Amino acid sequence: MTKAEEVASQHPPDMAPDFTVPQKWENYTDEEHGTWDILYERQVKLLPGYAEQSFIDGLKLLDLGRGGIPKFDQISDELEKLTGWRIVAVPCLVPDDIFFDHLANRRFPAGNFIRQRDQLDYIQEPDVFHDIFGHVPLLANPVFADYMEAYGKGGLRSLNYDCLKNLAALYWYTVEFGLIKTPDGLRIYGAGIVSSASETRFSLKDASPNRLDYDLERVMRTDYRIDDFQQTYFVIDSYESLFQSTVDTDFGPLYERLPELPRYAVDQIVSSEEIIHQGTQAYANAGGRFAAE
Ligand code: PHE
Ligand code: FE
Repeated sequence: MTKAEEVASQHPPDMAPDFTVPQKWENYTDEEHGTWDILYERQVKLLPGYAEQSFIDGLKLLDLGRGGIPKFDQISDELEKLTGWRIVAVPCLVPDDIFFDHLANRRFPAGNFIRQRDQLDYIQEPDVFHDIFGHVPLLANPVFADYMEAYGKGGLRSLNYDCLKNLAALYWYTVEFGLIKTPDGLRIYGAGIVSSASETRFSLKDASPNRLDYDLERVMRTDYRIDDFQQTYFVIDSYESLFQSTVDTDFGPLYERLPELPRYAVDQIVSSEEIIHQGTQAYANAGGRFAAE
């Protein structure tokens, strides 16, 4: 069995070969819709002054707060008119090649399940709130929408090389945990941040994490944390500059070179780089999420 076949064999019988399933919106309980509403209210109140404006605009354009878990078909019809993207439901994280192929074809795979009430603040696996609230608003931004497609196409090409870690780091430090400069100061745009109340505050205001200027190769060589707040955030100048830095670069030579080069630790700073804020790392040093209260 290939890896994809093995994973597929453990999954719902109605799952297609591209890992999509029907969203089955009718099956959500009132409690599950209520969980969305609680998370939605909390983030919408918090985000002004933290989130970059086109994220907030995207939330309004797609009307993600109409009450309860959104219907993917409905948001897709609206999003498709704006940037050509659609949302497809998946039951779990999908294999890399499948994920890249969806993005390359302007389909965003979103988990169709929602977290439990006792997991409002932290979940391990991305659920419908993270995937829809976190990722979909910026897919209404034409430049970011193009970046996501380019990333998917780049990902498909990268499968011929041994560099998934490098490409994943780029996604992680931009799409999931990116910060951006604006005339009003730094703002958040990464989906992992905007969908988390605690990381919204931490990433932008806390003295603990580093905040460094984005540099493509630097980012692609940096380790990252999947179990706690990031120890370093990278700050882009604009979505245009992020897009240009990636489309204008032929990643082939990078893929040959990067796996051989030393990686940067999650909290490392090198003297030659643009430091916006040198973190104290107090949070991580105290044990982070696992510190005794
Ligand atoms: N330019 C990259 C390549 O040559 C593709 C890419 C675009 C990767 C955007 C990531 C983001 O493969
Ligand atoms: Fe995500």
